[in-house]
Amino acid sequence: MTTDSPRFIARLHLESLDDTAALGARIAAALVRGDVVALRGDLGAGKTALVRTILQALGISGPIPSPTFTLVQSYETPRLLVHHFDLYRIEDESELDELGFDDSLSEGAALIEWPDRAGSRLPDEALHLTLTLLSGEARLATLEGPVRWATIIPKDF
Ligand SMILES: Nc1ncnc2c1ncn2[C@@H]1O[C@H](COP(=O)(O)OP(=O)(O)OP(=O)(O)O)[C@@H](O)[C@H]1O
Ligand SMILES: [Mg+2]
Repeated sequence: MTTDSPRFIARLHLESLDDTAALGARIAAALVRGDVVALRGDLGAGKTALVRTILQALGISGPIPSPTFTLVQSYETPRLLVHHFDLYRIEDESELDELGFDDSLSEGAALIEWPDRAGSRLPDEALHLTLTLLSGEARLATLEGPVRWATIIPKDF
């Protein structure tokens, strides 16, 4: 753990799905190979919806199904390979080997719903993003991660 290096911390008020899409576009523009975005929040908080906006901003125009049952969906976007994981159904960390989890993290970027199921395999340098349901389309997004994200996602966003 690099506890002494500066961290990026932000709380963003997302009024609507459009605001979520704006956040998704910012993340997409900065995403590079090896990046991990750990997405937390209750069922229906909007994790998959945010992933869709990220993938659309990266140029995916076809369907973006939730990987609820497949556990992972991979997208060859024009700029980089992106793996979208939903680990909700993982019961044991060893199941990640069958998914090729560790290799996936090095060969592209990974957007991971229910990341705590990955235990210690989640890299220290992940961007942690938690969505909290407010009312209607409003969501609170709490972000924590490497300081490089501070210039990508302004606090007055
Ligand atoms: N501001 C918003 N941001 C994200 N989603 C929103 C917003 N407003 C409304 N929604 C809607 O909320 C729903 C969120 O569902 P979604 O499948 O993304 O949740 P999830 O967090 O991935 O849940 P699960 O844990 O079951 O995978 C979608 O229908 C989406 O359109
Ligand atoms: Mg989901």
